[in-house]
Amino acid sequence: MDILYASLSSLFVVVVSCLVRFAFFQSKSDVNVKLPPGGRGWPVIGETIEFVTAGWKGHPEKFIVDRMTKFSRHVFRTSLMLEDAAVFCGPEGNKFLFSNENNLVKYWLPATVTKILPSTYLNVEKVKMIRYHFKPEVLRQYVSVMDMVVQKHFETGWEGKVQILAHKLTKNFTFQVACKIFFSIDEPEWVNNLSVPFERLAPGLFSIPINLPGTPLRRAINAGKFIRKELTTLVKQRKIDLADGKASPTQDILSLVLCDEYGKFMAESEVADLIMGLMIGGYDSTSSTCTFIVNYLAELPEIYEEVYKEQMEITKSKASTELLNWEDVSKMKYSWNVACEVLRLVPPTQGTFREAISDFTYNGYSIPKGWKLYWSTNSTHKNPEFFHEPQKFDPTRFNNNVPAPYTYVPFGGGSHLCPGKEFARIEILVFMHHLVRKFKLKKVIPNEQIVFDLIQPKLAKGLPIHICPHKP
Ligand SMILES: *[C@@H]1O[C@H](CO)[C@@H](O)[C@H](O)[C@H]1NC(C)=O
Ligand SMILES: *[C@@H]1O[C@H](CO)[C@@H](O)[C@H](O)[C@H]1NC(C)=O
Ligand SMILES: *[C@@H]1O[C@H](CO)[C@@H](O)[C@H](O)[C@H]1NC(C)=O
Repeated sequence: MDILYASLSSLFVVVVSCLVRFAFFQSKSDVNVKLPPGGRGWPVIGETIEFVTAGWKGHPEKFIVDRMTKFSRHVFRTSLMLEDAAVFCGPEGNKFLFSNENNLVKYWLPATVTKILPSTYLNVEKVKMIRYHFKPEVLRQYVSVMDMVVQKHFETGWEGKVQILAHKLTKNFTFQVACKIFFSIDEPEWVNNLSVPFERLAPGLFSIPINLPGTPLRRAINAGKFIRKELTTLVKQRKIDLADGKASPTQDILSLVLCDEYGKFMAESEVADLIMGLMIGGYDSTSSTCTFIVNYLAELPEIYEEVYKEQMEITKSKASTELLNWEDVSKMKYSWNVACEVLRLVPPTQGTFREAISDFTYNGYSIPKGWKLYWSTNSTHKNPEFFHEPQKFDPTRFNNNVPAPYTYVPFGGGSHLCPGKEFARIEILVFMHHLVRKFKLKKVIPNEQIVFDLIQPKLAKGLPIHICPHKP
């Protein structure tokens, strides 16, 4: 169905755009510059369909690997999301894009994203503000809150069951954590009401940019409107509660943002968009990572044992009802290495875009102003030059040796380095703590296939797992 609408509408776009291009843009190609090698695919729609469907076929990296092999292992041109684009590869490419932020390049989001989230929630100022509110001094107070949410989640979702669907549950828990820590809501019905439209956002974000009834983009735009309305109501209410002293200025991210100098000048809808952006950023990617952690722990008993040992040490050092704190999380070194290895092998984001803000030369090729520049995790994460035996799951590779600069980039880099990185780290570790402490895990489907729902890796059947509590 998705492919059908895509082909039909692209046919229309192709015909129209051929005419338009012919009429107006002929002169552009006369300019005598050496552009990066590569193809532009179809007019206007470019290679977007190949890019997106490589993901549906389970190999989103194939699009890039094929072209790296064919054209250049440094940079090649293409056309994506209706834009002229170049794909930068390898650590040199990552370094160039990450370290020239606001100098030669700036962060860019496809039109699909800005249609769903109209206010440009990710400008540098706002990323700075998010980073400020997600600093360790602030986050440390949330460790125990996350612990409570996770414990409750295991009680209601896992305990007493013999088999669970891991992906469904990790989504449930990351969403509950977000609602609790971003705006202090844990009422199940409210959380449920909001999680349903949230499910519709991700498929639209990096879809083929066609806004017609029934397309993923249109569904996501409508869901976004609903969520924004709900969140705006929350923001309004919170402002009143803060003024009346019924809410605390530090109780959650919403309060922190509203009491910030910066927040005072933001419209309510802008605050709502900011929170929504944070939730989008955190929800799908953290739940994907937690799911793959369950997957590898169930698959690799030696790794599971090591994580179990580490987590039991922490349990033994505490009174039975005492909640986890920042220091406990800091001790989970091996567990974090396991998470890092999962992030290397199945990064939740394949890559992001920058935009050239002036003409420049890279690797001997001219990059015109306005081009969209894409980098991807796979061009370094799975390269044997940087990671010995790249397909092997080996958490010890993170033991003492830090990966070479710009080769390990699951959170991106530069001034746009994911501001939620520390938040995600705590969330993932608290989850791992209770997971291994409570259950032994066995995969129901031994070789469950990894598929890509657009850009996000998923297990084909949602990762059914046999669970069995440890003997007391
Ligand atoms: C959840 O949605 C239903 C149906 O739209 C509505 O009746 C109900 O009041 C909502 N509950 C909450 C807590 O918002
Ligand atoms: C998933 O979350 C919803 C609230 O969003 C809750 O009502 C439901 O019980 C949860 N399911 C499980 C299995 O935890
Ligand atoms: C990208 O990943 C695939 C496997 O998923 C691998 O075969 C390929 O070599 C990787 N590309 C690079 C440049 O390392």
